[in-house]
Amino acid sequence: MPSTCLIFSVKGMARISSRSSNPGERSRTRRFFNLVSVIYPFIERNLTPAYRKALRKLDLESGLSVLDLATGTGILAAAFSERGHPTTGIDFAASLLYRARKKFPSVTFREMDLVELDGIQDRSFGIVSMGYFLHGVDAEFRQEVLEEAGRIASDYVIVFDYGRPGNFLVRFIEWVEGPHYAAYLAASREEEFRDAGLEIVDDFPTSSFGQVWVCRHLSSPSANRRDLVV
Ligand SMILES: C[S@@+](CC[C@H](N)C(=O)[O-])C[C@H]1O[C@@H](n2cnc3c(N)ncnc32)[C@H](O)[C@@H]1O
Repeated sequence: MPSTCLIFSVKGMARISSRSSNPGERSRTRRFFNLVSVIYPFIERNLTPAYRKALRKLDLESGLSVLDLATGTGILAAAFSERGHPTTGIDFAASLLYRARKKFPSVTFREMDLVELDGIQDRSFGIVSMGYFLHGVDAEFRQEVLEEAGRIASDYVIVFDYGRPGNFLVRFIEWVEGPHYAAYLAASREEEFRDAGLEIVDDFPTSSFGQVWVCRHLSSPSANRRDLVV
């Protein structure tokens, strides 16, 4: 794997496009996640076993490097790292990254806004992952981040997020987080992935509300549905 300074462009990161989700909303989101970092131990307790179990089931080749987008406190990044994947996590919330760096020294973390993804080289990571990011942003930004994920990944884009509506507590948390949860649930993941040049080769529930989708490039000759390792 090339060194990270070669993979991440160093000369002032370019914006992925002028269509990107509006700057006002992004600063509100960043403030929100910096503020709620105190409740993350509760979220981690719930999500960590689900991430670990799903990755065990997928049993991906450990040589594949991972770029975990919107990594938060790094629990998905750490679940990949535990399985031997060289892993980098990026996020724009400094308080969450502070916790991530303390807990998971084997993972490289970078503070970065996802609108700057175009500073990362094509196919520079084997896997690009994201956990519970998509539901929090509008359809345009979902599309842009998925397209960038497909450009950066050589093999897989792996998305963990809501696959169905959650219970009252989940709905309350999402109401506080922002306005995009309902529209995200109503949209078709399959279509959104296809529009970004990706196709689903595997997917399964990870909890009563969670789902994982494993995607490959649409043009990839090996993009047939994987046989599940159960
Ligand atoms: C619900 S949290 C999920 C965190 C982590 N992936 C997990 O599974 O616990 C969503 C994360 O997306 C990050 N995020 C949202 N918009 C972002 C952006 N434009 N650039 C970088 N990170 C962003 C937030 O800071 C937050 O850490």
